[in-house]
Amino acid sequence: MESAAAGLRPPEGAAADWTVPQRWAHYSAAEHALWDRLFARQARQLRSRASRVWMRGLEALRLSKPGIPDFDELSERLMASTGWQVVAVPGLVPDAVFFDHLANRRFVAGSFLRRPDQIDYLEEPDVFHDVFGHVPMLADPVFADYIQAYGQGGQRSLGFGALAKLARLYWYTVEFGLVEEEGNLKIYGSGIVSSHGESRFALDDPSPHRIGFDLMRVMRTRYRIDDYQQCYFVVPDFATLLDTTLNTDFAPVYAALEGMDEVDPTALLPGDRVIHRGTQARGAISASDAGSSSRQDPAGPPA
Ligand SMILES: [Fe+2]
Repeated sequence: MESAAAGLRPPEGAAADWTVPQRWAHYSAAEHALWDRLFARQARQLRSRASRVWMRGLEALRLSKPGIPDFDELSERLMASTGWQVVAVPGLVPDAVFFDHLANRRFVAGSFLRRPDQIDYLEEPDVFHDVFGHVPMLADPVFADYIQAYGQGGQRSLGFGALAKLARLYWYTVEFGLVEEEGNLKIYGSGIVSSHGESRFALDDPSPHRIGFDLMRVMRTRYRIDDYQQCYFVVPDFATLLDTTLNTDFAPVYAALEGMDEVDPTALLPGDRVIHRGTQARGAISASDAGSSSRQDPAGPPA
């Protein structure tokens, strides 16, 4: 799910923390069947592509059970493994609300499911993106701590006016991150995991750069919201990601970033650990965050 500088009051029917009931009993048979179709197609494709951490989470949470998961049931399992819960929200939530949920180990998820004609593309993150894409990683104790640390960092970033910079960390890890496992690149970012097209593109296509993770570099790098990414950042493991996030004093980092140029996602810099130099053949950028958006979820690029 995501945050946005939306209005400050929750919409009608939502609680003060913007949560709403999932209303699981209201899903139609056709919606459950569409979930099963999405699940089967993507689980098959990810078998050799997804991080073992994501795969383990999928299994531990028994997400292969047919039908759209019931958030209460899912939260019970998640709570037992890492103390996280999944809560439904009606759509975009304000940044402060988003960060407060993460800092308290509550993952906010959309409860609607895309329509059959949106199987490969949709504007807003739906229950498939949020649950299939994000939730398996929350069953991992290290990644679970990382997302909480991100939420806490997000709360602090608001005081520095540095949200757009920090949001890039979320984008290039939680949404579009790759990890190195036994010398191979694997997917763990939910925006890739939940996209049939990008879960091939991110690993196989010669176009995008694949660069070793560096916190400062990531926070300088713009991203595109209308198509597959032009660069992916690769973490060596999740403990490194968590340690870096916990042990960095972000205030001086934000101050230093103020004096540095932003980096186009097609660019490579002298200090980069380049794992794959992309051809960038996929085409010129047509839209990016341009440092102005705090949107924290992919718009679901076309397959
Ligand atoms: Fe997401």
